[in-house]
Amino acid sequence: MVKINIVGVGPGSPDYVTPAARKAVQSAQLVIGAQRSLNLFTGDIKGETIVLTAKNLRNALESAAGSAAKGFEVALLSTGDPGFSGLLHTVLESGLFNIEEINVVPGVSSIQACAAKLAISWDNALLFTFHEGNVTDDEKQVLDFAVSTGQDIILLPDSKAFSPRGISNYLIKSGAGKDTPVYVCENLTLPEEKIISGTLEEFSKRTFGSLSVMVIKATEKLSE
Ligand SMILES: C[S@@+](CC[C@H](N)C(=O)[O-])C[C@H]1O[C@@H](n2cnc3c(N)ncnc32)[C@H](O)[C@@H]1O
Repeated sequence: MVKINIVGVGPGSPDYVTPAARKAVQSAQLVIGAQRSLNLFTGDIKGETIVLTAKNLRNALESAAGSAAKGFEVALLSTGDPGFSGLLHTVLESGLFNIEEINVVPGVSSIQACAAKLAISWDNALLFTFHEGNVTDDEKQVLDFAVSTGQDIILLPDSKAFSPRGISNYLIKSGAGKDTPVYVCENLTLPEEKIISGTLEEFSKRTFGSLSVMVIKATEKLSE
């Protein structure tokens, strides 16, 4: 019954591609993904490919639905984990597939890679995504409230709409302590990986790469 496999491919390094993801790609007659994701499966892809871009997403999903209707196996590659700010949401919203036609192959999220890098036990962390302009005033206020609770916050910024710099400025204006400890993890698992630590005040003046996860650390005073 499964018509589409949405395959999590990890944050970037082939070391974080699971055997389950590889199997799903090897058995697919159609593999759809961004070039960066397809590159992780050189040698595994036996079927046709569609290179996903910002402009052809709808067309690619329609091709996926068409192939699946003919009985072909389709693998749609989603960076990190498909269920966190990933393509699962896009597929569910597309109206092209029923829930029972969807199989999700979980992947290592950039959120997990970030928590691991900073040795954060993330069961009590609050997670946010502002990726792709998902930044309403309400969302910002929820973030502001989350910071005031003193829990660790791990978030995906948006390099244009709500960058680490913009977030730091917003939080300072909303009353957060300028010396609140923050981190940005760039290019996790990749050779260019960089972990930058500082304070909200320092980050309010800095720019970071687009492939970034930001952490706002619980302050000692609040987390005690
Ligand atoms: C469309 S979202 C996909 C998130 C993905 N589903 C996940 O679970 O990591 C893309 C955002 O994820 C973050 N991201 C993905 N890979 C990353 C990496 N290797 N290092 C840092 N951030 C990454 C960045 O914030 C990027 O803008």
